[in-house]
Amino acid sequence: MSDTVSFHTHGAIAEAVIDNPPVNATSASVRQGLAEAIRKLESDPALHALVIRCEGKTFIAGADIKEFGKPMADPGLPLVMEMMDHSTKPIIAAVHGTVLGGGLEVALACHYRIAAPGTKFGFPEVKLGLMPGGGGTQRTPRLAGLATAIKLVTEGNQIGTDDALKSNLIDAVATGGDLATEARAFAESLMAEGKGPRSSSTLPMPADDPALFDEARKTVAKKMRGQTAPLRALEAMRLGYELPFDEAVRQELAIFRECMHGAQSKALRHMFAAEREVARIPGLPADFQTRSVERVGVIGLGVMGRGIVMALASAGLPVVAVGLDEDNIAAAIKAITKMWSSSVAKGSMSQEAMDKRMALITTSDDPRDLSATQLVIEAVTEDLDIKKAVFAKLGEVTQPGTILASNTSFLNIDTLAEASGRAEDVCGMHFFNPAHVMRLLENVRAAKTDPEVVATIMALGKRIGKLPVLSGVCDGFIVNRMLSKRSREGFFLVEEGAKPADIDKVLLSYGFPMGPFALGDLAGLDVQAAARKARAATATERELRANFVEQMVAEGRLGQKTGSGWYLYDENRKASPNPQTDAMIAAHAERHGLCLREIGEDEIRERLLYAMVNEGAKLLSEGIVPRPHEIDVALVNGLGWPSYTGGPMHWADQIGLDKVLARIEAFRAEQGDAYWTPAPLLEQYAREGRGFYA
Ligand code: 3HC
Repeated sequence: MSDTVSFHTHGAIAEAVIDNPPVNATSASVRQGLAEAIRKLESDPALHALVIRCEGKTFIAGADIKEFGKPMADPGLPLVMEMMDHSTKPIIAAVHGTVLGGGLEVALACHYRIAAPGTKFGFPEVKLGLMPGGGGTQRTPRLAGLATAIKLVTEGNQIGTDDALKSNLIDAVATGGDLATEARAFAESLMAEGKGPRSSSTLPMPADDPALFDEARKTVAKKMRGQTAPLRALEAMRLGYELPFDEAVRQELAIFRECMHGAQSKALRHMFAAEREVARIPGLPADFQTRSVERVGVIGLGVMGRGIVMALASAGLPVVAVGLDEDNIAAAIKAITKMWSSSVAKGSMSQEAMDKRMALITTSDDPRDLSATQLVIEAVTEDLDIKKAVFAKLGEVTQPGTILASNTSFLNIDTLAEASGRAEDVCGMHFFNPAHVMRLLENVRAAKTDPEVVATIMALGKRIGKLPVLSGVCDGFIVNRMLSKRSREGFFLVEEGAKPADIDKVLLSYGFPMGPFALGDLAGLDVQAAARKARAATATERELRANFVEQMVAEGRLGQKTGSGWYLYDENRKASPNPQTDAMIAAHAERHGLCLREIGEDEIRERLLYAMVNEGAKLLSEGIVPRPHEIDVALVNGLGWPSYTGGPMHWADQIGLDKVLARIEAFRAEQGDAYWTPAPLLEQYAREGRGFYA
């Protein structure tokens, strides 16, 4: 047998046990082992059935991603499944954990399926820019019906055992005892009832329903805009109505391979690996000591503080929420109650869950009540003097060893660390708004932060369901620093003649959920104006001159919240063109004697996005991040950079850094050194003919 599949017999029942950590992917040796087990089953008259199950925490969680793009060793998964299909004796999949992608396809190619309670099933291929390539688009509709199959393969979400049983994807749910024993008993009962092999490939396709396909295309266009894999999955499923099963499966595989070699899948697989890579901190072993955190304090109960309280309580952590005064605390609790009540009303949370979360929150207006916490997250006004005073106070009222984290988006954490008197306990934990929803968490290591603190906040981020990325100290850390360059180019482009709505359209068609001006309106132009003010001392004359947000704020146009900003908004916050914006830009041009010109889409896209790539390269050059992975993960999850381009650094690599550098040099010649000096690392890599990823 292979080194990852062992074969056992228990009377007339054979058992193939896969042990291929970490997730029992169908690597070459697993495929070999399964093929060998089926051959043994067929050739031994004493054997009447075969159970396939897995050791470890899960049944097969998919094809082996690490084999993609390399020549596939024999036997391929389709051949193994064909062997199962044609077996003259029943094969039973006994599944647990996450039965995903190729793993679900293996299970569906078996004749019967029994699942441990709590098992999850799904086709996550689309999240990797792929679609099922092992018969999933053909067997699923035959077993579960068209609507369920379309939903599973195009959306990539998981379902539980109840839904799997209802949809006929499994035959039985085990009681929760030893799965191997229950699976053997299941096999024996089949034999006792005289039930033989039963292949899903021989079932008819369900009645065709073109309306379901049309609806799915619309859902994909809305929820997965720009992505090709879900549409290709639908194309493959339609083949079931046109071709015999075997031919449809062959063509499905061909479509799968086209997806696998495509740019989107390459980018999404890169993102999958990068998200896991950023959890590994260079110089910090995975088992590095962490501090115990059982009670967390949040000081400052504005929008960010409330969101952080919600994120912590949602993860089951007791929170001490410290506000300014009674009114401030009451307003925060009212806002939190309103948000959670609306989830309860929508049915996405139970009343019981809400009550549990609320019970975890205690409030106070006295920072001394933070003394029994092991971590305090500061989210007070974004003002250095105020924050310094808060850190000085926190240094006094909390126990030595209590981690003091600032949620600042651009202030210097080293300065706050000094103010606390306990610099080694101080770090940044920069949440994104809304903090209880957004996955990205920029954890910041300051000059003197204890490595134990770093390990603790990375682990805590994961514990509360966030995607933590580690940054060093700099103005804006990763996302806001790179975003500030995009905003600057956006304002310059407007000064030069591009219309804000046209600029937004360019980024929308690139794949961002919204353009820079719609985003400014959403976040609040007063917030953007405050950030510009904080940076005014180091701004150039041209940056100060492009003062559109200040002009709008002076007129009381703060964006969506006042119904007017770059765009006009109706009561449902639906945007329409704002004549005041055109007038403002025209008057601004006249006032400063600016000459407006037509600017093409390519220039708009390159100036907005190459400015960010160059800034990303500077983050790397300066050692703010150790690898490009942090940048791609942060921008995709914090700013909505389309994941199917792989984030700015992967995207730039695909274009070729020599080409990116040539455009940056051209912009430098037109716009000046102050804005377009290439990062040293970009120049070096372009010269060496390599990418940010070696
Ligand atoms: N192939 C190879 N390695 C895989 C893998 C796969 N399909 N899935 C996960 N891994 C690796 C991860 O890279 C990680 O490696 P690392 O420790 O070196 O970083 C390790 O397994 C553990 O993964 P996670 O950290 O994600 O562990 P979790 O316990 O949090 O999650 C999981 C487990 C839910 C299985 C999650 O890993 C997952 O969603 N995996 C991807 C599943 C998937 O996309 N399957 C479809 C593959 S494509 C396919 O099957 C095509 C078919 O139709 C022909």
